[in-house]
Amino acid sequence: MGKVLLLSKTDVESVLNMRETIAAMETAFQEFSGGSAILPQRILIPTEAGISLYMPAFLPQSGSLAVKIVTVFEHNPVKYDLPTILGKVLLQDPKTGDVISIMDGSYLTAMRTGAVSGCAIKYLAKKDVQSVGLFGTGVQGSTQLWAACVARPRVQLCKVYDVRKDVAEDFILKMSKKLQIPDIKVVKSPEEAVKGSDIVLTATTSPTPVFRGEWLEPGTHISAIGSYTPETREIDTKTVRKAKVVCDEMNACLEEAGDLIIPIKEGDITKKHIHAELGEIVSGKKPGRETESEITLFKSVGLAIQDAATSKLVYDKAREMKKGIEVEI
Ligand SMILES: NC(=O)c1ccc[n+]([C@@H]2O[C@H](COP(=O)([O-])OP(=O)(O)OC[C@H]3O[C@@H](n4cnc5c(N)ncnc54)[C@H](O)[C@@H]3O)[C@@H](O)[C@H]2O)c1
Repeated sequence: MGKVLLLSKTDVESVLNMRETIAAMETAFQEFSGGSAILPQRILIPTEAGISLYMPAFLPQSGSLAVKIVTVFEHNPVKYDLPTILGKVLLQDPKTGDVISIMDGSYLTAMRTGAVSGCAIKYLAKKDVQSVGLFGTGVQGSTQLWAACVARPRVQLCKVYDVRKDVAEDFILKMSKKLQIPDIKVVKSPEEAVKGSDIVLTATTSPTPVFRGEWLEPGTHISAIGSYTPETREIDTKTVRKAKVVCDEMNACLEEAGDLIIPIKEGDITKKHIHAELGEIVSGKKPGRETESEITLFKSVGLAIQDAATSKLVYDKAREMKKGIEVEI
């Protein structure tokens, strides 16, 4: 039997950078759009203690075959001093099928979720982006902002809004060191975060819209990654109606993204209002941004192809940089 490379969160952090992760997302979505990727529906097992999700995918061209196991066990913090959400990725060798690596999935998830927004920004945001408004300063908020600054490196101003001001202030301290944005600050209202922003990022746990569509300026791009159930949404109907809408994957979004499902159910838009999947834009089958003034919206619920592609990138780089521990199983 082959050896398995074990990679901790620190190992994953030490090998991944945003530029390469965005490139990996671009390739993965291109492959997905070309029809060769295999992306079964995620499997969900409810247990007494929580929910266990299994997200498998295969990208033959890039040789990424993997499954991510994510669990949401609410009593973990109090009972076991563990986070509510845990995740690990098992990467396989597509030639033998054997599992060749087990790696931490939490940082990997934040990176691939940021990177898919970075990829969307590359195709959908204006070329000259000066300002970003960010909603939600948790784990995903960090990588959303990082990816936006990599995809559009001339960002001068970032306005950050979180319902928890203390969390937002800690975020500013951390991110101002990391990203060197000339002006990064907490704002007092959602309206301030949106008005005048070239890009608006939403990465919250809010079940209801975090801003109003009427505040958007022409030409704004929005990346919405937070909500993932049919009943919850971060984006209001007015925004969806005003925008050219691109989703990560049509069926997944029509099953999970309240941001789109609610306006469809209420008769404000039809499915046809969704312009494209990201892969169609990346592979040139459909146009991305066409005018300076159009409003674009990217909705992501998260796909296993992102995990498979990122775990392969982590593995290849970890081998090169001699990270992790190898064990015989
Ligand atoms: N699309 C994907 O692939 C993907 C991947 C991972 C996580 N997610 C989702 O992204 C969301 C954020 O995840 P996280 O790990 O960063 O969570 P987190 O708990 O670390 O951060 C969420 C932040 O949102 C803030 N918030 C809540 N309501 C708000 C509002 N109305 N306005 C502004 N801020 C508000 C909270 O105070 C918190 O700081 C979750 O819903 C998660 O399920 C999506």
